[in-house]
Amino acid sequence: MDIKDFLDKSAVSVEKALNKWVPSARTKPTTLHTAMRYSLFAGGKRVRPALVMASSLACGGDESAALPFACAVECIHTYSLIHDDLPCMDDDDFRRGKPTSHKVYGEGIAVLAGDALLTIAFEMLQHAGPTKRYTHRDFLAELTSAAGSRQLIAGQVADLEGEGRDDLKLSDLKFIHERKTSALLQCSARLGGMAANATPRQLEALTEFGYKVGLAFQVIDDILDVTQTSENLGKTAGKDVNAGKLTYPSLMGLERSRKYAEKLTNEAFASLLAFRGRATHLKGLAEFLLARDR
Ligand code: IPE
Ligand code: IPE
Ligand code: MG
Ligand code: MG
Ligand code: MG
Repeated sequence: MDIKDFLDKSAVSVEKALNKWVPSARTKPTTLHTAMRYSLFAGGKRVRPALVMASSLACGGDESAALPFACAVECIHTYSLIHDDLPCMDDDDFRRGKPTSHKVYGEGIAVLAGDALLTIAFEMLQHAGPTKRYTHRDFLAELTSAAGSRQLIAGQVADLEGEGRDDLKLSDLKFIHERKTSALLQCSARLGGMAANATPRQLEALTEFGYKVGLAFQVIDDILDVTQTSENLGKTAGKDVNAGKLTYPSLMGLERSRKYAEKLTNEAFASLLAFRGRATHLKGLAEFLLARDR
């Protein structure tokens, strides 16, 4: 199994489905739908959809059942990026290699495009079928809990309120990263499992895997902000230091941050034992995410 090949194929499927399920740019209000599509199709890595697909495969599922969930998590993620970049939040001008939504469409439309992408994520669930073990009530509970005020938004609140403070500890930083990033990756892994009618034991393994890989993902994001160029990242590098953000490199330095991301990834591998060799895509994905440079 070639992980690059898997990522490419899963991105193509997800983009095709998003194109079908998100209103066309000609649909009124055209500015809004144009803005939603601008950010959605600006060329993200599609990590969360790949995690949905790989988790489904590990549980013996097929692609078509997992696609609505892959689209849902990518819509939530894209909304969170549009809002994260607003002047009242991280105030970023570049995202996914292009000017940010508010730079192109203005702040009002950028806020509304984010709102609409969050809402449409739930609409995607109408394309999903229930399985023997899981119903739409379970799917809704997953998405609402990961995206809501106790997880993703809680992390963004703590991230904002932590700016410029020098009295915060590692436990505060972990709180932020678990919520703003890990929660949605964990949710992606779990939804992929649910799409494939995962056993309780498999779902538990995916929960652990998603959590660890999700936390490692944000540690690496913090590292890349320091070590990479804006051109390579497709977003402004070095901005965490400028904004006085609490990050892993700022608290423990680059070397220890890297070691920590490795440790989390190894712990994630350990949870894959439950799949007895069927989790090759998940393993490849975790390795790829640890080694990534963008
Ligand atoms: C960036 O996520 C924001 C974080 C939560 C770290 P990604 O690195 O997945 O961004 P895209 O989707 O590839 O643009
Ligand atoms: C973003 O974290 C987390 C969410 C959008 C929920 P960052 O602020 O570190 O992401 P980047 O670096 O702007 O992509
Ligand atoms: Mg941020
Ligand atoms: Mg940001
Ligand atoms: Mg970042």
